[in-house]
Amino acid sequence: MTVRLAAIPGDGVGPEVVAATLPVLSAALESHGEHLEVTELDWGADRFVREGAAMPADGAETVRRHDAVLFGAVGRPDVPDHELVWGLIIGLRQQLDLAVNVRPVRAFEGVPSRVRDVEGVDLVIVRENTEGEYVGAGGLAHAGTGHDLGIEVAVHSRRVIERAAEYAFGLAEQRRGRLSLVTKSNAMRHGYPLWDSVVREVAQRHPDVELEIVLVDAMAARLVQAPHSLDVLLAGNLFGDILSDLAAVLAGGMGMAPSANVLPGGAVPGIYEPVHGSAPDIAGRGIANPTACLLSGAMLLDDLGHSAPADAVRTALATTLRSAQHHTPDLGGTASTSQLAAAVLHEMESR
Ligand code: NAI
Ligand code: MG
Repeated sequence: MTVRLAAIPGDGVGPEVVAATLPVLSAALESHGEHLEVTELDWGADRFVREGAAMPADGAETVRRHDAVLFGAVGRPDVPDHELVWGLIIGLRQQLDLAVNVRPVRAFEGVPSRVRDVEGVDLVIVRENTEGEYVGAGGLAHAGTGHDLGIEVAVHSRRVIERAAEYAFGLAEQRRGRLSLVTKSNAMRHGYPLWDSVVREVAQRHPDVELEIVLVDAMAARLVQAPHSLDVLLAGNLFGDILSDLAAVLAGGMGMAPSANVLPGGAVPGIYEPVHGSAPDIAGRGIANPTACLLSGAMLLDDLGHSAPADAVRTALATTLRSAQHHTPDLGGTASTSQLAAAVLHEMESR
């Protein structure tokens, strides 16, 4: 079988980590008698500067013709951030209606963390991906008058909360059976109380999962203080975004955190991407950690039903990361992006 992949390397370290990942995915599939076919799409900041849009108007249709997307990152300091982020990744999430952004955080043996006692941490953040604070509703009034008024409206609908919750409960059932809903329904009186009540309803259909509701500020502390007490976190778009960078630090930093944008049921291709952005501070030096992208690639293979190649990637990575000689500078090492990826490839092929 052939996996038809669209690769959108994007900007900054995006192309570096995607280039490191594609050969590993290809080798994993080949060794299981499958094949990877890649269409590379040059969407991102360069295209925006050249043509006024980060992707073509029919970009979502192009994506639909593939089995899945591997996305690097978008963002370049000389281009307004919201143009690129909205013009590409948030745009695609919304146009394809990719309901949830699944962000696993797992501490790998041998990988140093700034946080103490993280050994064995294994949690997943399920972030609602189409509405909330990132729905895109609002406007700018009195622009340029000196009394400028920015209005950003958060939208939370029952349908969208319910589908994210169904996904999160299903995931908790396959894991350790614990779901922590993250809201802020003490200070925000409308949207988040709706989350609480809809998720309690969904919980009735999943009696084997233990539900707790935690306010987002308390969850920020808990992630650092007691991460082992967490299994699946369900959060709205903004809180899920913020908490996933915090949680990434438990596992060694932004270079370690993968994600999947999916519509459960699989009617549209998923977009798999590292949680991190284009990291302009280190871009172009070949030192970005490709782990987040490699793990995103493993999630992609899993979701397409290729669980053996996915396991092969994860196992080879876990073995490679045990020795500090393969660590990139963000992990305190001196290896380059391509050296770490080559070590993973070598490990996989020597099995
Ligand atoms: P960032 O995630 O790009 O970088 C934050 C910090 O993490 C930096 O110090 C960076 O060097 C480090 N880092 C990130 N990825 C790394 C990797 N693979 N290996 C080693 N270190 C890594 O976030 P920042 O700086 O806030 O945003 C930079 C640009 O990326 C902005 O234009 C932003 O809008 C965009 N962005 C895009 C996202 C996407 O494409 N999905 C997500 C987040 C930000
Ligand atoms: Mg983010």
